[in-house]
Amino acid sequence: MRRLAPLVLVLVLAAGCSTSKPGEKIVLPLPTTIVGTVPKAQPVTVPPQYKGGDATAGKAVFTSSGCSGCHTLADANAHGTVGPNLDQLKPPLAKVIVQVINGGGAMPAFKGQLSVKQIADVSAYVVKATGGNPNG
Ligand code: HEC
Repeated sequence: MRRLAPLVLVLVLAAGCSTSKPGEKIVLPLPTTIVGTVPKAQPVTVPPQYKGGDATAGKAVFTSSGCSGCHTLADANAHGTVGPNLDQLKPPLAKVIVQVINGGGAMPAFKGQLSVKQIADVSAYVVKATGGNPNG
C-alpha cells in the first residue's frame, strides 16, 4: 500500500485537470512582479537646428518647393488635395519639421532637397499660417 501512495497522488492531480472542459474560460497566470519600467510614448524630438525658423521666409519655400501642389493652405493660396489640408490639420511645429525632413505616406522627404534653414523656415510658416506657435 505504501508503494501506491505516489500513484494515488498522481491520480488526484490528473483528476483535477480533467474537470476543465473544452470551451471553458482559461485563466492565464499573470506575472506579479514587473521588472523595469513600461516605456512611455516617445515625444517627437526635433533637432535644435530646425527650430526658430523664419515664417515670413518660409512662405516662399512653401510655394516654390511643391508643397502647394499637394496641400491646401489658404495663406499660401494652395489648393492641393494629395496630402492633408493643413488649415484643418493645424500641425504642431515638431510634426511639420519631422514630416518635411523625412516625408512619409505619399510625401517625399525634403532633407537634401531643402537646406536646414529652408526646412526650419517652411515649418515655422506652416505653423504660423495655421494659427499655431511657430516657435514650437
Ligand atoms: C507629393 C505630394 C506632397 C508634397 C510635395 C508635400 N506633401 Fe506634405 N504630405 C503629403 C501626404 C500624402 C501627407 C500625408 C502623409 C501620411 O499620411 O503619412 C503629407 C503630410 C504632411 C504633413 C502632416 C504631418 C503629420 O504628421 O500630420 C505636413 C505638416 C506636411 N505634409 C507639410 C508639407 C510641406 C511643408 C511640404 C513642402 C515642403 C509638403 N508637405 C510637400 C503629400 C505631399
